[in-house]
Amino acid sequence: MIALYLVDSNRPNPDLPGEVPQVVSTVPPAGIVKAARRPARYGMLAPVTDAAHAALTDLEREILAPGGGLDRLRLVRTPFVPEVRLHLAEDAIVWWARMEAHAGRHLPPPYWASVWAGGQALARYLLDHPELASGRRVLDLAAGSGLVAIAAALAGARRVVANDIDPYAVAAVTVNARANRVAVAATGGDLLDTDGAGVDLLVAGDVLYDGPLAARMLAFLRRVAATGADVLVGDPGRGHLPADGLTVVADYPVPTTEPSVDSPVRRVQVLRPR
Ligand SMILES: C[S@@+](CC[C@H](N)C(=O)[O-])C[C@H]1O[C@@H](n2cnc3c(N)ncnc32)[C@H](O)[C@@H]1O
Repeated sequence: MIALYLVDSNRPNPDLPGEVPQVVSTVPPAGIVKAARRPARYGMLAPVTDAAHAALTDLEREILAPGGGLDRLRLVRTPFVPEVRLHLAEDAIVWWARMEAHAGRHLPPPYWASVWAGGQALARYLLDHPELASGRRVLDLAAGSGLVAIAAALAGARRVVANDIDPYAVAAVTVNARANRVAVAATGGDLLDTDGAGVDLLVAGDVLYDGPLAARMLAFLRRVAATGADVLVGDPGRGHLPADGLTVVADYPVPTTEPSVDSPVRRVQVLRPR
């Protein structure tokens, strides 16, 4: 597990307009990925679950009445991708603690409530090269806040699906897509044992942060690439990038306030399997 951190830009910004309500479909898209090795309910066609609906209710309540402490959500511009605004926690750890106390049970770490260097670089790359996503069916794997999915939608993707195993991330994608007035289908479930067919572009930001997870992620990325899809990964060098098999297509200095990093910027590579 990687440490959660808070970006400076999570501080309230009085210049930002409020969220504009928009209906974003939570109906899973038809025919983008056909789950071959697991029942469809675990694949990309999996319906939004009761847990994701409950999480969406929680996040909508938090957004409507954000409170004034460190445990609040704020709609802020993403530091390296100011075109995209996200509902992020003022302090993700404090927010997490309050939500767990409210729920009376453990909740997954709220990765979706922070911006991550790998996702920021990947979103920047898509917005700077819109032809990569334009008109294509895009899957944002392990989407967290949905930053990369939203960037793909802004770049003109035909259809964007954002997948994450955390029901709160599925809910966060929905509220963040609304805030940016784009359509993104948010889905839960673990796709990593599926074949990933039916995707034109697979994007995965900051997903190689844990050894066993990185091995599963890389196997899935390679399977999807073998179908002929374009695959892009954003990685800030967390130690699980393979030595070969990936070509660097961009290298960005991304602002970060991660405690583990001394510098205010972190070098992030965008890579493509070859
Ligand atoms: C560090 S966050 C990155 C989020 C986002 N991609 C970004 O760059 O902002 C990692 C995300 O991976 C998700 N995750 C972990 N294992 C996963 C899996 N097997 N399938 C889908 N998502 C997964 C976590 O829930 C978390 O939201």
